[in-house]
Amino acid sequence: MDVRTSVIDKRLSKINHMICVASGKGGVGKSLVASSLALNLVEKGFKVGLLDLDLYGPSSHIILGIKKQGFPEEDKGILPPKNHNISFMSIVYFTEDKPSAFRGIDISNIIIELLAITQWGKLDYLIIDMPPGIGDETLDVIRLVKKSEFIVVSTPSKVAIGAVNKLLLMLKELKLPVIGVIENMKMNESDYVKNNVKKIGLPYLNSIYFDKNLEEAIGKPNRLLKTRFMKDLDKIVEKNILV
Ligand SMILES: Nc1ncnc2c1ncn2[C@@H]1O[C@H](COP(=O)(O)OP(=O)(O)OP(=O)(O)O)[C@@H](O)[C@H]1O
Ligand SMILES: [Mg+2]
Repeated sequence: MDVRTSVIDKRLSKINHMICVASGKGGVGKSLVASSLALNLVEKGFKVGLLDLDLYGPSSHIILGIKKQGFPEEDKGILPPKNHNISFMSIVYFTEDKPSAFRGIDISNIIIELLAITQWGKLDYLIIDMPPGIGDETLDVIRLVKKSEFIVVSTPSKVAIGAVNKLLLMLKELKLPVIGVIENMKMNESDYVKNNVKKIGLPYLNSIYFDKNLEEAIGKPNRLLKTRFMKDLDKIVEKNILV
């Protein structure tokens, strides 16, 4: 038994909703969706936390333009620094920008450690930016963050959907709550992803269109809030998240 796992329940006990943004596939826009979702909810006046669990390629801090501010403050754990009013925790506070290579057991240990030390306090939403695939991180989050609900991101590509299906089937088999699937970077009108998701029996949330101006807004939260990407995401938030 790992004593840290019993601490985790206590650490997460004052959080109303925990939403994992995941995908079976890399590069589909998970981090953009997770960071923008945190930003959207904080603008609506909610208390929001963002946890970047992509240990190999953390990127939420880049999207939100979070500068390194030294080691986070300690108080019977670690207080997640607030950026743009979002309580933010990521491995970058500990590894800086040095390359990080971890074995499976290290991954589990780091995730347990991050969850056990972070003092989120009272939150309306904790958004978790997941790494790609259905590896150790996903299994650890399912095991440790018991109340987590999932938003799954895909692109319209048949290649992406092939990998995303594996995650969807796994979540369905484990009877875990899936808020639904977002089709990101949509360019043409096609019902391929929608039909695929419906066939599996899970909710299709909506599409976010390819936004050619998105790159310019990376690192600038105030600009991100004004993008087409955020407008598309906001429709999903209003309809499917604020319940
Ligand atoms: N709707 C969109 N329109 C235009 N560009 C987008 C859109 N969504 C995401 N992108 C871009 O696609 C790239 C990948 O996005 P992101 O890093 O969020 O993907 P990811 O799924 O988190 O990747 P990884 O699997 O590596 O963690 C980024 O450069 C991002 O700016
Ligand atoms: Mg990512």
